[in-house]
Amino acid sequence: MTPPRNSTAARDIAYALHPYTDHKAHLQNGPMVISRGKGVRVYDDQGKEYIESVAGLWCASLGFDNERLVQAAAAQMRKLPFYHAFTAKSHEPLVDLSEMLIERAPSPMSKVFFANSGSEANDSAIKMIWYMNNAIGRPEKKKIIARLKGYHGITLAAASLTGLPANHKLFDLPLPGFHHVSTPHHYHNAKPGESEEDFATRLAEEVEQKILAEGPETVAAFWAEPIMGAGGVILPPATYFPKIQAVLKKYDVLFVADEVICGFWRTGNYWGSQTLGIQPDILVCAKALSASYLPISAVMVSEQVFQGIAEGSSTIGTWGHGFTYSGHPVPAAVAIETLKIYDEMDIGTHVKRVGAHMQKALRERFAEHPMVGEVRGTGLIAGVELVADKGAAKNFDPAKKVGARLSKLGEKHGVIMRAMVNDSMGFSPPLIISEAEIDEMLDRVGRALDELSVELRREAIAPV
Ligand SMILES: Cc1ncc(COP(=O)(O)O)c(C=O)c1O
Repeated sequence: MTPPRNSTAARDIAYALHPYTDHKAHLQNGPMVISRGKGVRVYDDQGKEYIESVAGLWCASLGFDNERLVQAAAAQMRKLPFYHAFTAKSHEPLVDLSEMLIERAPSPMSKVFFANSGSEANDSAIKMIWYMNNAIGRPEKKKIIARLKGYHGITLAAASLTGLPANHKLFDLPLPGFHHVSTPHHYHNAKPGESEEDFATRLAEEVEQKILAEGPETVAAFWAEPIMGAGGVILPPATYFPKIQAVLKKYDVLFVADEVICGFWRTGNYWGSQTLGIQPDILVCAKALSASYLPISAVMVSEQVFQGIAEGSSTIGTWGHGFTYSGHPVPAAVAIETLKIYDEMDIGTHVKRVGAHMQKALRERFAEHPMVGEVRGTGLIAGVELVADKGAAKNFDPAKKVGARLSKLGEKHGVIMRAMVNDSMGFSPPLIISEAEIDEMLDRVGRALDELSVELRREAIAPV
């Protein structure tokens, strides 16, 4: 349907280049224009209401109308709307937030660096590691191992860490020196009869073989989200990370935890690292750091990494890295307020309770559905994978875009959903969601799934 002339939708088609969009299809279909938000809900420009089952992009942790965050931003803008942190300049929000993050870190951390997005934070961490290894006299040690289906962002180096084809194809990526090992997804990747424990052991051995094949003196770091988000919400076996971390220690390879989605209680603990048994050397976070009201990301580094950076900077006279908006006072003030709200609300206890409810309800409602292969997740993050053949764990033909069709039907039924690789539907609602809202959200998802089942059966695409 062609939108009315001069409508927001028509002007969007005329002028906007959207992230993650099929632009030719967009010229025909136009945008979904979201006008306002309240609690866990958003409203489009026609006034239709939707529950946000993914908190936007796994990020609007405190929902869409937190007045305290608005006030924190306004107060900071009145006091000091901008200052930078170059050449040892500082300001209170930057210092307070740094201290708060170090106090909350899952392993001993020394310093915090701020950027504006998860991608920039990951790029910054890569540059820190390269810089450090040059500074301490091991210039060979630069290669990085990440995982297939991992998602770390889209700037050149972060996209090279990312292990998803859509982020590489036509972009001439990944850059040299970035390697990808297997996805720790037992459901698809285990050998017949292989236990989770054996699967974890095999994947840790794969990492060791990779390090040995490349040469331990050339491998600098291993990069992982505690739970893979955009790759389809993939939880590794319980012993996967401890086994891998033991291998990394043996060869002096750093562990970088990308907590951009998992950080700040998403998995039921403050950090995904705590849920999955990781003691990172570097931790990257963003999104729920400021409840996503303003852009800010952070990289926390251990004393060892800091010492390497300090060494190089004193030789050269500066550490030639930093963004105009690194530690910008307004997003930093909002992040401080966000962390205070998490503490005051005891949001961890809330997430544990409603997360258990969401996990149980998802399994009760959908695990037996003929089109659902696996329901997985913990805390307030979950994946529901749609399959063409439940018995054989066989996905639909990607060309059928089954997950995208479910998202579209979800919109009709009042829920915004996110379809990912292998038609895995991601659930990661605002952390403030209640049990009743979870039930309402899943009622809507159920109605959309029933309608999709009927459509696919009619088109002879459905299983059975
Ligand atoms: C785990 C992870 N890392 C990094 C990023 C990139 O963050 P940004 O989109 O802010 O660059 C994302 C974004 O979803 C993410 O999920």
